[in-house]
Formats: sequence, structure tokens, C-alpha cells
Amino acid sequence: MPAAKHEGHVNPAKGHERIETNNGLMIVLILLVVAVGGLVEIVPLFFQRSTTEAVAGVKPYTALQLAGRDVYLREGCYNCHSQMIRALQSETLRYGHYSLAGEFVYDRPFQWGSKRTGPDLARVGGKYSDEWHRIHLTSPRDLVPESNMAAYPWLATRQVDPASMPPRLTAMRRLGVPYTQTEVDGSPEAVQGKSELDALIAYLQVLGTQVK
Ligand code: HEC
Repeated sequence: MPAAKHEGHVNPAKGHERIETNNGLMIVLILLVVAVGGLVEIVPLFFQRSTTEAVAGVKPYTALQLAGRDVYLREGCYNCHSQMIRALQSETLRYGHYSLAGEFVYDRPFQWGSKRTGPDLARVGGKYSDEWHRIHLTSPRDLVPESNMAAYPWLATRQVDPASMPPRLTAMRRLGVPYTQTEVDGSPEAVQGKSELDALIAYLQVLGTQVK
């Protein structure tokens, strides 16, 4: 009897047993399986234009809104304001529906921010009149006496440079924003005679309004 048992051990392992009793082979095959699994997940991403689709209704910024967005960046509004409503009840009660990834597809760079000295602005569009913003941005304490927001009186006196618009739209287009050639060509006219304050207000008024 012991002889038979012994015989079984010396018999070369076959099939799956051979893999399970051979460390080297097992490691090579595991790496192969993990590599295939990884490639199947990663490779399609290289061929996708975007991993996040625009939410229905989300359109690229108009030339004037884009100019206003650049003012927002230049003035550092993001240092005090976020544009990202989290999925917490305390946030949605105050600011509205939580932010969706597909709302930011044309935001380059995104303005989520990380500091809220002031309120979140992701859905501030339509909350106030243009005139309210005009006064608030020029002199916040005229409207909100306890406000510690900075004043931006120079925005009303500075004009948006029409000639600067086509390169800005073209740059956005390179990053994947689907501006048509007509929009690029028409962008100088779209900001003609507009102040930086007009542009910034146009930008603020569209925030969060495209998603119903
Ligand atoms: C030093 C911090 C600070 C900076 C910088 C700042 N803000 Fe504010 N902002 C606040 C505070 C605080 C409030 C709330 C009080 C008030 O309404 O003035 C506020 C309020 C606002 C509101 C009203 C929001 C609401 O829902 O009531 C808007 C719009 C706004 N800011 C836009 C801007 C823009 C645009 C810029 C850049 C040009 C900017 N802020 C820069 C602190 C700041």
C-alpha cells in the first residue's frame, strides 16, 4: 500500500495541478491574466474623446461668458468661492441640486475650488439681477453690509479686447470644446463694446442654469 501512495507522488502532475504546484508558472500566468484584465479596462480610454459626457443642455460658454470666466480666473474669485455642490443635504438645501460631472465638460480648467469664504457659486445664475451683480461686484458692502468680499471697481472701466477672443476660443477648441468656425470668427463682434464687468456678469448668470 505505501508503495502505491509513493508512486502517486512521483507521478508528474498534470493539468491544473501542474499550475498549482509550480510557483514560477503560477506567477507568470497570474501576471498574464491581470495584464489582460487591465488592458481591457484601460485601452478603450485612449480612444474615447472624453470619459465624461456632457449633461443634456450643457453648452460651451459664449464668447462673452468665456471672457467673463477669464476675468473670474484673473481676479482669483476661486480663492473664496467654490463651484461644486456636494451631495449632502446641508448643501443641496442651500445651493440646489448637487453638481454633476457632465456639467463641467467645457470648464477648462474647472473652478471647483477648495475654499468657501463666500458661498458656492455653481448655481448662482439667475439668483440675482444683472444690476445686483453690477453693484455687488463694484462695492459689495452697499448690498451686504457684513460682507468681507473684495471690491472690483475697475472691472466696469476696462473693456474686453475683441481681438483677443478668437485665440481664446481656438485654444478651448484644441482642448475639445466644440466651437464652430463661425463662433470663432464672430467672437470679436460678440464682445464689442463690452466691459469686463459685463462679461463677468454674463458668466455668473449662466452658472448652473443649463441643467434642469
Ligand atoms: C475675500 C473673499 C472673496 C473674494 C476674493 C470674492 N468673494 Fe464673492 N463673496 C465673498 C463673501 C464673503 C460673500 C458673501 C457676502 C456677500 O454677498 O457679499 C460673497 C458673495 C458673492 C456672491 C453672491 C453669492 C450668493 O449666492 O449670494 C457672488 C455672485 C460673488 N461673491 C462673486 C464673486 C466674484 C465674481 C468674485 C471675483 C471677481 C468674488 N466673488 C471674489 C467673498 C469673496
